[in-house]
Amino acid sequence: MPEQCKVDMEKIVSLCKRRGFVFQSSEIYGGLGSCWDYGPLGVELKRNIKEAWWRAVVQERDDIVGLDSSIIMHPQVWVASGHVAGFSDPLVECKVCHLRWRATDLDGSRCPDCGGELTEPRMFNLMFKTFMGPVEDDAHIVYLRPETAQGIFVNFENVMMTSRKKLPFGIAQIGKSFRNEITTGNFIFRTREFEQMEIEYFVKPGTDEKWFEYWVNERFNWYLNLGIRRENLRLRRHEKEELAHYAKECCDIEYLFPMGWAELEGIANRGDFDLRQHAQQSGKDLSYFDDETGERYIPYVIEPSAGVDRSALAFLVDAYDEEVVEGEKRVVLRLHKQLAPIKVAVLPLSRNEKLVPPAKEIYAELRRHFMTQYDDAQSIGRRYRRQDEIGTPFCVTIDFQSLEDQQVTIRERDSMVQIRVPIKDLVDILRAKLAGEPFATQPLWTARGSDAIGQ
Ligand code: GAP
Repeated sequence: MPEQCKVDMEKIVSLCKRRGFVFQSSEIYGGLGSCWDYGPLGVELKRNIKEAWWRAVVQERDDIVGLDSSIIMHPQVWVASGHVAGFSDPLVECKVCHLRWRATDLDGSRCPDCGGELTEPRMFNLMFKTFMGPVEDDAHIVYLRPETAQGIFVNFENVMMTSRKKLPFGIAQIGKSFRNEITTGNFIFRTREFEQMEIEYFVKPGTDEKWFEYWVNERFNWYLNLGIRRENLRLRRHEKEELAHYAKECCDIEYLFPMGWAELEGIANRGDFDLRQHAQQSGKDLSYFDDETGERYIPYVIEPSAGVDRSALAFLVDAYDEEVVEGEKRVVLRLHKQLAPIKVAVLPLSRNEKLVPPAKEIYAELRRHFMTQYDDAQSIGRRYRRQDEIGTPFCVTIDFQSLEDQQVTIRERDSMVQIRVPIKDLVDILRAKLAGEPFATQPLWTARGSDAIGQ
């Protein structure tokens, strides 16, 4: 039995559009192929993913520092890196319907769409070209970066000197990359404009294999710690023949997406390829002096390279769940609390004039601490469902009893358990629960109890 993802892509695409996670780019003009826009919830999800990554690899460590280099770089960078000569895919075109395909994606020798005859493959460079300044000639060609990595290599010396780091140390960067992919698809999995989260970790040659294994482990655990199910993740080590031109060794972290197992992140041992190339092309000495051993050498590099969009897709797919509650389907995104776009929803039981002012007051207070939403439209049950579907971990409900006892109900997304807490302690309690404190400690009642407020 081939392993299969529990959810189809259509459900994810539809939820993303319906709830404002991801929209087709330029939709009112009919859309633009393989470009997507992140809506109000999608942008929060992406920010949370990037923040979790930054915290894990920069803020919580003392051996990695950050960088934000420009997207357009000196064109020689891409000559040195090998991208001008070699960042190409073999392209074939159908002689009948003129659709274009990446030859390596095809099983047979006919067009997968219409069965027509295909042209001979020709190499197609994936870098987007544009011109710097008003003159559009060859001397002014520049490229949109196809990876953030090279911005790190060309700043190796600057960062090392200013941050006074000694080996082993790393430089991390998050940013947009662009590739004129021949075939795109599977929603935000492969697009022409995407965001990467990359670390270049510089080590002493000879210690590189140990550090490579270390980073494979670290990165695998990062996904597990953010709630991805173990059975949906696996490692795939590359055979020698499939290694990129710069790599000594490579291992992909793969996720079981709706279309099957596919790369989520690659960890490569790039040896000294990049620093050596840039030293040669620029004439700058990019070696490192090891003052403990008195040796001078070009560091080796271990590169964990992840995609923000692919991670967002994996987190959405993994979190998606459907269940039947009292005869009705409940769709729930069981996102990790750190990643959930909205942390708390404030829901007055109704639009009653006595309930709305205190509910608005609580909303104003919570907003100062957490990403909070206010909703008083439709029945409480419908509003819970709406929050479940976008992954909101906690709903706070204000009812008539609240006016008497200054307490409100917190309902948890996954278990639907409800607890009653004093309004004055609400911020502290929510903060503790969002940080991972178990929810059902002393529940005053549960959703299935007689007094529960809807579900
Ligand atoms: N610096 C090394 C590098 O760029 P890569 O395997 O080509 O390596 C790294 O890309 C990660 O970037 C991939 O694992 C994936 O998550 C993301 N990525 C690459 N191409 C992408 C595309 N066309 N659309 C979305 N994400 C992409």
